[in-house]
Amino acid sequence: MRMVDLIEKKRDGGELSKPEIDFIIQGYTKGTIPDYQMSAFAMAVFFKDMTASERADMTMAMVESGETIDLSAIEGIKVDKHSTGGVGDTTTLVLAPLVAALDIPVAKMSGRGLGHTGGTIDKLESIKGFHVEVTKDEFIDLVNRDKIAVIGQTGNLTPADKKLYALRDVTGTVNSIPLIASSIMSKKIAAGSDAIVLDVKTGSGAFMKTEEDAYKLAHTMVSIGNSVGRKTVAIISDMSQPLGFAVGNAIEVKEAIDTLKGVGPKDLTELVLTLGSHMVCLAKKAKSEEEARKKLIEVIKNGKAIEKFKLFITNQGGDASVVDNTDKLPQAAYKIDISAKKDGFVSEIVADEVGTAAMLLGAGRATKEDTIDLAVGIMLRKKVGDKVEKGEPIATLYSNKKDVEEVTSKIYNSITISDKAEIPKLIHGIVTK
Ligand code: URA
Ligand code: CA
Repeated sequence: MRMVDLIEKKRDGGELSKPEIDFIIQGYTKGTIPDYQMSAFAMAVFFKDMTASERADMTMAMVESGETIDLSAIEGIKVDKHSTGGVGDTTTLVLAPLVAALDIPVAKMSGRGLGHTGGTIDKLESIKGFHVEVTKDEFIDLVNRDKIAVIGQTGNLTPADKKLYALRDVTGTVNSIPLIASSIMSKKIAAGSDAIVLDVKTGSGAFMKTEEDAYKLAHTMVSIGNSVGRKTVAIISDMSQPLGFAVGNAIEVKEAIDTLKGVGPKDLTELVLTLGSHMVCLAKKAKSEEEARKKLIEVIKNGKAIEKFKLFITNQGGDASVVDNTDKLPQAAYKIDISAKKDGFVSEIVADEVGTAAMLLGAGRATKEDTIDLAVGIMLRKKVGDKVEKGEPIATLYSNKKDVEEVTSKIYNSITISDKAEIPKLIHGIVTK
């Protein structure tokens, strides 16, 4: 086989066979196919798309390019959750203990990552002593015993995706549905769960800005998952404004704790219940979404969810007393209110801009080497649709520096106050096939 022939075949709109896709991905991983040929191929896919079977073959070829996690030693149906990424997205911190409280095994591999705030692991590390350096055996034992554990990225998972994603980043080929879908799904499949719930975000703070693109991506990922034997469901959810009120690390942990106690923000709670009820159904712990939702609400009300969170923290070396005393979380030196300049209704909070403001305070990393300030971030005081009076705080900056001029102007730019406002729909839809 010659790579140049396969590039031409895709360029002319042909369909590649499984052996052809395996040849490309294996060759690229090994280095026998150079970056320039892979770039041309990615661009051909960008313009000509891929058929459903090509997408599934591409995904599995990337899974097979490296190690995979074997979770078969864990009893029960393992359901993983993935979000395509948003601002102030605290869902994993809440969902993991919440579904584990219903005896559903949560064997989570998580990363730090780059972005507006840290990843799930960074956030959890704002709890003193908490760590994810557990061995694979300990990880399996913890999940079997207590149904929940989080481990840092281990092993060489999907090296083909790592290499291809970096190449796409500099060749104008990130924004291709088959490439995004196979990239995300290969990582989820390599991580070993039996079923997957996807939270596909749409809106200004999301990767997929329009609802139409979000649906396309969701349909593609669900179809890949189902065709390779992992039952997959996708929720399309709003990311036109940040989720909840907190955008940061420690402050998102506090928000997660509140939500597990039943006193969290309305939108975060609703999204967690929606994603959670699909996880419960996929794990076969309920027959209908309604039944699943009832069970989730019950473990929030009876305290089992927050108890599970405490147990999880303790198991991984953390100080669980933060749950009852959140002042023990890292605290910022300054809390600076930003006040409304006029009366009206909040009609827009541009998620991306709020995220960037949090990053400017030090809540996220721009490069892998950057360190994160876990204490800082943005606490919104209003959400879209809320009434506001001139002089009232619309956001509070949690900062370790006094000079917050740039951040303040970012927040003013991101929040619009108008005569009227419409509350955005949180759940746009659900894709099951
Ligand atoms: N996230 C991924 O993991 N891969 C993509 O291609 C895009 C977003
Ligand atoms: Ca939040």
